[in-house]
Amino acid sequence: TLGGYSDFMSKEIAEQPEAIERLLKGRLGEHGIEMDELDMTDEDLARIDRIYIVACGTSYHVGLIAKTMIEHWAKVFVSVEYASEFNYSDVLVTDHTLCVIVTQSGETADTLSAARRLKGMGCKVFAITNVLGSSAARESDGTLYIQAGPEVAVASTKAYTAQMVAGALLALRLALACGQMTRAEVEKVFRELEKVPDAIREVFRRSWQDKQAVPLFRDAQSALYLGRGTSSTTAYEGALKMKEIAYVHAEAYPAGEMKHGPIALIQPGFPVLAVVPADHVHDKTVSNIMESKARGARIVAVATDGDEQVANLADHVLWVPQMDEYVVPIVAVVHLQMLARYVALAKGLDVDKPRNLAKSVTVE
Ligand code: F6R
Repeated sequence: TLGGYSDFMSKEIAEQPEAIERLLKGRLGEHGIEMDELDMTDEDLARIDRIYIVACGTSYHVGLIAKTMIEHWAKVFVSVEYASEFNYSDVLVTDHTLCVIVTQSGETADTLSAARRLKGMGCKVFAITNVLGSSAARESDGTLYIQAGPEVAVASTKAYTAQMVAGALLALRLALACGQMTRAEVEKVFRELEKVPDAIREVFRRSWQDKQAVPLFRDAQSALYLGRGTSSTTAYEGALKMKEIAYVHAEAYPAGEMKHGPIALIQPGFPVLAVVPADHVHDKTVSNIMESKARGARIVAVATDGDEQVANLADHVLWVPQMDEYVVPIVAVVHLQMLARYVALAKGLDVDKPRNLAKSVTVE
């Protein structure tokens, strides 16, 4: 039931802090990250030399963030695959390849086929899912339930952020097992993850910033979403939300790719949304904002509190608290969920049931 909310999407957006708190609870143990669900020993984990993460849609974007985290913290090579492509392409497994499937519903046909294929090749399959007893859970060797509660709105919100936290826990567990991080280093990152729920609550208090940006998108035919590093994924996910519920053609690009083609789209008034938190690639993205602005783009930026440079360049800023750059995507995306919802509402659309879409895609 809606319990006072006007739509399921707003309810599920609001449930994100509690979902993440539930998922983190009891995960930091004496020896590191508690994840019995993996059903693998440290020795098994230390042998993993390649990981395939397979998923669709929003869950695929979780895979992109998980890759960044696993490669940065655990130093294990990760390939992220669209399940629908993976099933018809060559797969290069080693004796110690791990397969991770990410699927909120646990019933996405392409994702399940990919898992079966990898299992058939001798890989261990680990599932990150929301639905208890789903096919993904039944068919995998281990399952991490994100426990986000039922997600009813077609556009995934709370499953996205909770699945990213699950990805972070897996990355930290691996990093310890592989000897790439100490217990103290893992604890430091874990404490950053624990700041996420309150940071998201703070973003909720700033929803007026998203409302103010609505006019830039409401009548737009098209928009560009840009980001680098961990923020490129936030741009992909934000653009997907804008497309699927507000029907604005939003295209996401790694910011540095803009001058290899998409910059030709920019004309005076064209909306460009740049995800540019304080991180090691911040200044590079700022120069892409300048290039867009010089061609007349209207700029909406997601930036870190206190960033005056971005404040001076952008037409609107969606502010996020200061966070670790590997953790900030879990917070920054919340602005983009709210922005897409407000644009859809301004257009009189049903945010819970966008046209042509089903909650779970059970055909290939
Ligand atoms: C987008 C969305 C879809 C799903 C995709 C995979 O908001 O909800 O892109 O993420 O259909 O679904 P699951 O995670 O259930 O496998």
